[in-house]
Amino acid sequence: MAQRESWATRTGFILAAVGSAVGLGNIWRFPYQVGEQGGAAFLFIYLLLIVMIGFPVILAEFVVGRNTERNPVGALKRIGSGAWTKIGWVFVTAGFVILSYYSVIAGWTVRYVLIGLQGGYTADAAPEQFGAVASGLDAVGLHALFMLGVIVIVALGIERGIELSVKVMVPAIIVISLGLAAYVFTLEGAADAYAYYLSPELSTIMSEWTTILPAAAAQAFFTLSLGMGVMMTYASYLGEDRNLASDAGIIAVLDTFIAFTAGLIAFPILFAAGIDPGASGPSLIFVSLAAAFAEIPFGGLLGAIFFGTVAIAALSSAISIMEVVVSYLIDEWDIDRIPATATLGVAIFLFGTPAALDLVFIDLYDGFANSILLMLGGLLLSIFVGWIVPDLALEEIEKGIKDIGSLGVAWLWFVRIPVVVALIGLVALNAWNYYGFLTGSFADWLNTTL
Ligand code: PHE
Repeated sequence: MAQRESWATRTGFILAAVGSAVGLGNIWRFPYQVGEQGGAAFLFIYLLLIVMIGFPVILAEFVVGRNTERNPVGALKRIGSGAWTKIGWVFVTAGFVILSYYSVIAGWTVRYVLIGLQGGYTADAAPEQFGAVASGLDAVGLHALFMLGVIVIVALGIERGIELSVKVMVPAIIVISLGLAAYVFTLEGAADAYAYYLSPELSTIMSEWTTILPAAAAQAFFTLSLGMGVMMTYASYLGEDRNLASDAGIIAVLDTFIAFTAGLIAFPILFAAGIDPGASGPSLIFVSLAAAFAEIPFGGLLGAIFFGTVAIAALSSAISIMEVVVSYLIDEWDIDRIPATATLGVAIFLFGTPAALDLVFIDLYDGFANSILLMLGGLLLSIFVGWIVPDLALEEIEKGIKDIGSLGVAWLWFVRIPVVVALIGLVALNAWNYYGFLTGSFADWLNTTL
């Protein structure tokens, strides 16, 4: 087997993990979740879950990855036994499915950059415009283009591909987002938007928590790239012992900061154009925000910059998903990186093509992979780390941290009980909701189409 690659620098590893975390989840999904779930109440619960579930689970992935220096399937074969050796499969499957539609949505963002540059956003016909962008051969073409970008970067390897590209992409995302947030601060209506976004009402939290909580947990998982072995795979390329807890902290803080900033950008623009942020669901940035760009000064250019940032963020995440599946082929099947990446890229492209042709496939894939597989992967991994290999986990986390004291044990108990209990509830609830989708709107779609 070829010599295993590793990151050139600690910053490279952190930027790659931040690049994975910051993506469509932060700039597309987060604002519409806030809109759907009633504003600041959602933000509040989400922040809580990042700390209570997200942070401990990142560490669980890091520990397994660094200890085994393997892809998720190989990692669990190495330190697990019996049925545990199969969990890696949940990860690799989730990665395959998620990347297939993630790339389709990323393709739309590229399209919206072009529309903005041509001054083409429209306030009246925004839904129709989105309909045209999100289906048909153009959507398939941009999905192909985006996958090509992913393939090229991942084929170049850890140091020359992923590390080098995130060193450019991640700082660019941060700087441009801050610039956009500062600009929209000057728009009329910004103050109302901040009030909506930032002051949670206790009464909303009390009455709506049963729906807000699972939505916020799914968001926290997705945005931190958890439950499918990305953080595990990236940590497997760490050559030496570093302080995993401080790295995880930096990653979680930067990711949350970018999601928060995306809200600071989107809501003032929507309020300035008089558009209700709760009305549009998943098409929030593509319909409502695009319509708002048609109404505000320099909207075309601003929109192009905004969607360009989303596209870059999506690319820096997509490469991490690809790396999980590619590392599996390299480690377990002994296939060279370039053919492994190219073959997988084509397979993922084909699997995602239905999603480029009809939106119903996005719901079909997303509900399964994001709401069920990610949580299930996170749950199984937490049980594994907390209950099956606790000694190894504790020993691994202590490496690189001086004076950890009893914090390591506290982390372990956190993973063992609160995280596991919360995830069991969430997997059950999300599976139930998905069953509702399959027998409801998806069945209707099948009946009318076939
Ligand atoms: N974290 C990425 C985002 O926020 C999505 C992602 C999920 C990436 C799972 C890798 C694994 O868009």
